[in-house]
Amino acid sequence: MLEFTDIFKQYQLGQQRVDALKGVSGRINQGEMVALCGPSGSGKSTLLNVLGLLEMDYQGKIELAGKAYPRDPMAAAQYRRTRLGFVFQRFNLIPVMSAWENVAYPLMLNGLSLAEQKRKSLEILDRVGLAEFVDHRPDNLSGGQQQRVAIARALVHQPEMVIADEPTASLDSQTAALVVEMMKSLGHEMGTTFVVATHDARMAMHCDRTIDLVDGVISTEAMQWAS
Ligand SMILES: Nc1ncnc2c1ncn2[C@@H]1O[C@H](COP(=O)(O)OP(=O)(O)O)[C@@H](O)[C@H]1O
Ligand SMILES: [Mg+2]
Repeated sequence: MLEFTDIFKQYQLGQQRVDALKGVSGRINQGEMVALCGPSGSGKSTLLNVLGLLEMDYQGKIELAGKAYPRDPMAAAQYRRTRLGFVFQRFNLIPVMSAWENVAYPLMLNGLSLAEQKRKSLEILDRVGLAEFVDHRPDNLSGGQQQRVAIARALVHQPEMVIADEPTASLDSQTAALVVEMMKSLGHEMGTTFVVATHDARMAMHCDRTIDLVDGVISTEAMQWAS
């Protein structure tokens, strides 16, 4: 289980202080797929960055599987590489690498042999339906295929949790629905938690549960739904 308690995050914009998160708490079960919803500027990306250890300057407590999140940058980098996976709106694939090389990248960072990198990458690419595209460069893949490569890359090292920030915002609605369903079924099969920020209520419907953010707080309406 992921448990975050009283998360506060401020940004300084010149003389002005922006309170992006104003005391956000929640629990997400292992293997659950949660949609983080809310209008633009409500704090979705900020909360994802905090939960993904991409933003370390926050107040509050986070525990994954009963253990506190690391607070120093070196430990955080190690934690991100081994226990977390990331999916972004614009796929963020490396253009000069083939699909399998993109997927293998986190395994390379984790020091696996080339043979193991390739074996695991091909296996997960097969599971996202891209067995025939493993040697393709991102340029030669559709948006939906590129996002499936990115999902394979996020899952290849079997992280406990994948953080996805607007993963379907660059896709047409039909492809988007397929991609979300794929994340959900892989998450359930592999026991991987997915936290997916979206401003699209239709995408949220495909998730197990929704957390609604409004102006940096979890909306009470959503809390009534959850209880
Ligand atoms: N790097 C930053 N510097 C200053 N303000 C920021 C920064 N990032 C986000 N904000 C502000 O924090 C609030 C929440 O933003 P964000 O988390 O990006 O919301 P969302 O992802 O829901 O659109 C907004 O008011 C935004 O302008
Ligand atoms: Mg955002």
